[in-house]
Amino acid sequence: MKITNKKKILLTRIFPGIARELLENAGYFVSSSMQDAPLTKLELIRMSKSHDAIMCTLSDRIDSEFLTECAHLDIISQFAVGFDNIDLIKATELNIPVGYTPDVLSDATADLAFGLMIAVSRNMIYNYKRILNGEWKYFRPNSDLGIELKNKTLGIYGLGRIGFEMAKRCKGAFDMKILYNNRSRNQKAEDQLDARFVDFSTLLAESDIISVHAALNPETKSKFNKTAFDKMKPTALFINTARGGIHDEYDLIKAMEMNQFWGAGLDVTNPEPCKPDNPLLSMPNVVVLPHIGSATVEARSAMAKLAAENIIEFYEKGTVPNIINYEVISSIKR
Ligand code: GLV
Repeated sequence: MKITNKKKILLTRIFPGIARELLENAGYFVSSSMQDAPLTKLELIRMSKSHDAIMCTLSDRIDSEFLTECAHLDIISQFAVGFDNIDLIKATELNIPVGYTPDVLSDATADLAFGLMIAVSRNMIYNYKRILNGEWKYFRPNSDLGIELKNKTLGIYGLGRIGFEMAKRCKGAFDMKILYNNRSRNQKAEDQLDARFVDFSTLLAESDIISVHAALNPETKSKFNKTAFDKMKPTALFINTARGGIHDEYDLIKAMEMNQFWGAGLDVTNPEPCKPDNPLLSMPNVVVLPHIGSATVEARSAMAKLAAENIIEFYEKGTVPNIINYEVISSIKR
């Protein structure tokens, strides 16, 4: 093949090395942003203009303006399972297939949700900070008390692949009863985990732990607001490892300040990144992590592989193994 015919792929961030390796072995020109921070909007547009395809991630704004400027792109390969950073309607209108990386991060993300739940139930981070502050002076029989999780009721908001894994862990480890609220019924969860589909109000009222695993979209945006928090049990835990936009952070801060329920464990905030002076960070009943749900060696490397394969298979076979807007594939003529 003549060098000039080679497709040019832009990696918008420093991804695990397997992505570049697979793409280069398949014969493409690969250039990568070498900085840790996301490209600015202008840089992203400028660099994408001289490439045929991009591998991007959730901090890249693939909005209508970007897509209009970069309508020449053959494919957008998102390194993430969520895709609320992408204007999917516009991409579809422009016949640009958008790939993503589902499944391979479900275990890692569910592990983190499970860990946050335990950390909040026992105020682990707060107590760790007490040691740092020189406050561990003696054993206190009636202080530092947490709550136990055995036989509690877990309420999953958004029972897809990650929600299923979280429910499985909670059922196996703590024999929890599983409730869920979802756009559609999840037969596998009902059969294997005895999960019960409930409406949103019942989920709020009956769950001891609410764990959010939904996608961010107009229907789920700010779903967990004052009205929702007011319906939760005073002993409940709120865990969000999905997207910060699904909770109203101001309402959450107010609820936590008033100790309205037991506590919150967040791997996502609204906005992100969370500022160091966010009041949630100094609350004893809140644990915040910097969006690291899929951050394991195994998951990130599998995501990089999938994201690269989405591009390679698109060019080689005209299909994208993991595609979001599958309707464009049949209409593409390349
Ligand atoms: C992470 O948040 C993802 O969507 O993959």
